[in-house]
Amino acid sequence: MKHILKASDAIREATNNFKPEVGIILGTGLGGFADSIDVEYRLEYKDIPNMPVSTVEGHKGCLIFGKIAGKNVVAMQGRFHYYEGYTMQQVTFPVRVMALLGIKFLFVSNAAGGVNTSFCVGDLMVITDHINLLPNPLIGPNMAEFGPRFPDMHDCYNHATIAKATAIAEREHIKLQYGVYVGTTGPTFETQAEYRYFKAIGADAVGMSTVPEVIVARHMGVPCFGMSVITNCGLSDEKGDHEDVQLQGKKAGERMARLFVNLIKEL
Ligand code: HPA
Repeated sequence: MKHILKASDAIREATNNFKPEVGIILGTGLGGFADSIDVEYRLEYKDIPNMPVSTVEGHKGCLIFGKIAGKNVVAMQGRFHYYEGYTMQQVTFPVRVMALLGIKFLFVSNAAGGVNTSFCVGDLMVITDHINLLPNPLIGPNMAEFGPRFPDMHDCYNHATIAKATAIAEREHIKLQYGVYVGTTGPTFETQAEYRYFKAIGADAVGMSTVPEVIVARHMGVPCFGMSVITNCGLSDEKGDHEDVQLQGKKAGERMARLFVNLIKEL
């Protein structure tokens, strides 16, 4: 708690007490979304006390404060993954900090592998629910200041916002898929047997992020909206590779940005 408070105090001081309404976590290759923000402040992770620093290629490390459609937002350009060796407390640290800064909503994006065989590379999937196969970030003494010991996970991905996203996508002619995201540790991509296993347990897409941040946001009662860019189809014959993931992410990122901007406008 001390670490979280110190980070949020330092951010308030550095941003002239900027009050974000929406928090946004930008996934692999989707950092370009930051161009949609009228930037007021940019803080590098390394300049924020207790903030981890990201190590993966394609992941910048800064918090961007500014406006989208007149609303105050804070965006994480670069997130922390469990496979990098961070603890789950470190992975979710920025979400606690953003909540202390006052966010009322969390938007999360990621690159994911398609498990649902009707998905195509470059599809956007609205996350309707998740399956957590990472360690739970709430293991350990409960931080009662933030939320209950046994948080409810119904409506984990806010139904009303999903409905709004659907309406916007129709209007903007953006094709959407819907499905369950399974969060795994990585860093290996899945074997064919593992993709089949994820399909069998009810997943539509698989990735190595998002679930920890959403669990921690829901612990604090912050509504979430999540979207995956399908960068590869696990059950097809093509191989996953990080460069391809970044490229597909970038292309679909433009459509995702349009959807996010419209959603934020209508929140
Ligand atoms: N598996 C896990 N994570 C991913 C994948 C995948 O196939 N594609 C992009 N992120």
